[in-house]
Amino acid sequence: LVNGSESVFVNPIAIHLIAAARPNFMKIAPLYHALAREPWCRPQIVHTGQHYDANMSDAFFRDLGLPAPHFHLEVGSGSHAEQTGGVMIAYEKVAIREKPDWIVVVGDVNSTAACAMVGTKLWIPVIHLEAGLRSGDRRMPEEINRLATDAICDVLWTPSPDADENLAREGVSASRIDRVGNIMIDSFEMMRSAIEADGTRDSMGLQAGQYAVVTLHRPSNVDRRETLEPLVQQLVEVSRDLPLVFAVHPRTRRKLEEFDLLATLSQPTKGGARITLTEPLGYIQFMNLVRSARAVITDSGGVQEESTYLGIPCLTLRENTERPITVSEGSNRLVKPGDLYTQAQEVLGGRWTTGRRPALWDGRTAERCVAALRRRAGA
Ligand code: UD1
Ligand code: UDP
Repeated sequence: LVNGSESVFVNPIAIHLIAAARPNFMKIAPLYHALAREPWCRPQIVHTGQHYDANMSDAFFRDLGLPAPHFHLEVGSGSHAEQTGGVMIAYEKVAIREKPDWIVVVGDVNSTAACAMVGTKLWIPVIHLEAGLRSGDRRMPEEINRLATDAICDVLWTPSPDADENLAREGVSASRIDRVGNIMIDSFEMMRSAIEADGTRDSMGLQAGQYAVVTLHRPSNVDRRETLEPLVQQLVEVSRDLPLVFAVHPRTRRKLEEFDLLATLSQPTKGGARITLTEPLGYIQFMNLVRSARAVITDSGGVQEESTYLGIPCLTLRENTERPITVSEGSNRLVKPGDLYTQAQEVLGGRWTTGRRPALWDGRTAERCVAALRRRAGA
């Protein structure tokens, strides 16, 4: 339809973007904004409610300039089956009623696999953004979600060549794959000036390059006393030489309380240990801290990527990573809990390579997604 000189699409393609948990919001935000500028489509945000605390959810909508979700499923916490099943039951109703033309799921959380399953069974084409990542570790719930999601999605948007190779090995046809790059980097670039202008680091009295940022939330690290207690001890050791800011995930806070470890972390010791514990931080605040940090100590997927992009040493407290490019090209190393102190000394001694930015981690992934979707939708 032509309206004056502008084309107006009578039936723009309806696209559901599924977001559930903290790391999903920075993956949908650049895509939402890019799609919202296109006349041929109408993006809508579906929040499953997997994360619900203000500082695990609303803060990101505000920081990333997202509108309130168009649909909110309010599923909340539960066992894996309860959460996955709850999302499926709730999203199926929405999908049947709304009949989106396309669904985009992101990352590897329970809601990702749940919504992929709902969409494909309703014959709605589903795209997985951040497809093809594999840790090879099936004890990780996320690995099961990745395998299940990639097996059934119609289109797989990958961040790096290793992801394409994993998919090829699993017999996925190249025609289902578009390598689009890393969407997390788009969020950083989109918010760069706000991140640089933010005063979080200053307000905490920290000097650039003189502290490390810590996040931990993997069940394999935090759920059992046998793994969490030695980690806490290592952090205290590291903090004698390098002040730490530990933004504590709700899962981890619960476990630190249960195992009575909060006091060990927060009390200054004779050796001068200094660990600042905070609630989970908003995206802008958190990245303001990360960008000037000497190092990050983490088990987060997203933080491994952001630190590689920024060339900041990343000590990943895991046995494996589904993001091997952050090790082979970036600034990431896998660190055994018992080696944390000695590996931190490597950073402090200047013996850590800053690496380089992987190809297509350039802040233009959303643009490539829009072009790929338009081509596939024939719009
Ligand atoms: C989930 C994802 C994980 C992702 C992480 C990002 C799965 C299987 N796990 O793990 O892949 O890396 O999010 O942060 O999908 N809780 C709150 N408030 C909230 C959310 C959670 O208090 O807003 C507490 C609850 O006690 C809950 C626990 O944290 O039981 C775990 O939450 P859940 O979403 O099940 O798993 P995460 O560990 O957050
Ligand atoms: N993050 C944040 N505030 C925090 C901790 C992390 O904004 O207190 C951001 C971080 O920059 C990254 C994302 O959350 O963009 C990663 O989420 P998380 O570690 O919860 O999940 P994962 O990536 O491991 O699935």
